[in-house]
Amino acid sequence: MAAEGSYQASTFNLELEGEIQRLKAQVIISWEKEARTLKWFGLADGMKVLEAGSGPGFFTEKLVELLPNSSITAVEIDPVLQEKAAEYLHQKAGGRVNHVQASVGDTGLPANSFDFAIARLLFVHLPDPVAAAREIFRILKPGGKLVIIDNDADLFWLTNPPWSVEIVREKFKQVIASRGGNLCVGRNLCSILKEAGFVSVDLEAVVSHSDIIGIEAFQPLLDSGPILQMVKQGLISESEIASYLVSRDKFEAAGDRRLIMTFGLMACGEKNQ
Ligand SMILES: C[S@@+](CC[C@H](N)C(=O)[O-])C[C@H]1O[C@@H](n2cnc3c(N)ncnc32)[C@H](O)[C@@H]1O
Repeated sequence: MAAEGSYQASTFNLELEGEIQRLKAQVIISWEKEARTLKWFGLADGMKVLEAGSGPGFFTEKLVELLPNSSITAVEIDPVLQEKAAEYLHQKAGGRVNHVQASVGDTGLPANSFDFAIARLLFVHLPDPVAAAREIFRILKPGGKLVIIDNDADLFWLTNPPWSVEIVREKFKQVIASRGGNLCVGRNLCSILKEAGFVSVDLEAVVSHSDIIGIEAFQPLLDSGPILQMVKQGLISESEIASYLVSRDKFEAAGDRRLIMTFGLMACGEKNQ
C-alpha cells in the first residue's frame, strides 16, 4: 500500500535510520508519563488493544511490557516500517502483536472488536483525521476508548538559552500542510474526536523536562540534520535559517546549563455503551 499523508519515512526524503533513532528517542522521553496517563484514561492489562501508525515498533514494545496479558494489533501503512517492527518485536512480543499493513482510514478490521485504541504521532500527518477517528470508532467495542497522542507546533518546546526556531517552525508547518498534514493538530484533537462520534472527550498534557530526565535524552531531537536537509532541497534558504543556527550554537555552548522542556498532548474519547 502506498504511503499517504505527510509522513512517508521510507519513501520520502528522510534518512531512514536517523529517523528511526529520532522516533525511539521520542518514545523514551515521554513514555513514563504517557503510560500513567493511558492508565488513568482506563487502559488496563488484558484489554484487546489497537495501535494505529505504529511505525518501527518502539511504542508497541512499551505497550507489550506494560500489558503482559494483552494482545496488540499494530496497524501501519508503510511496509518497510512494518517489516522492521515485526523483526524488532518478534522475540520480545511472544506472539502477542498482530501486524496489519493498512491505512488507519480503512483498516479492514472487524467492527466492535477492540477495548482501547492508541494513535501516537499519527494524526499530525493525516489529510482526513476525522475519517481516521471514525474508522477507529467503528472497530472499537461499545465503551471502548481512543487516545490520540500528538503535539502542537506552537506548544512544542521551551529552551534555555532560547533557541529561535520560529522561522524554521513556520516553514515546517507549510511543508507538512502541503503534504496534507497539520503540525498544529494538537489544538484540534478534541474536536476531531467529537466529530467522529466520541463522547466524554478529555485532554491532558505531558511535560518532559531536562532537569528531570537529563539533557542527553533530548539529544536526537536537537539534531539540525533535517533542517539542513531542507536547505539542500531548497525548501528554506540559508539566510532564513541564520538566526536558527546562531541561537542553536549559543544553546549548545551552554553545555550543562542547557534546559529543554517539551509538551505532548493526549486526548481521549469514548464510544458510547
Ligand atoms: C511519526 S511516526 C510515529 C510512529 C509511532 N507511533 C511512534 O510514536 O513512535 C508516524 C507513523 O504513522 C504511519 N502512518 C502515516 N499515515 C498512516 C496511515 N494513513 N495509516 C496508518 N499508518 C500511517 C507512518 O508510516 C509512521 O510509521
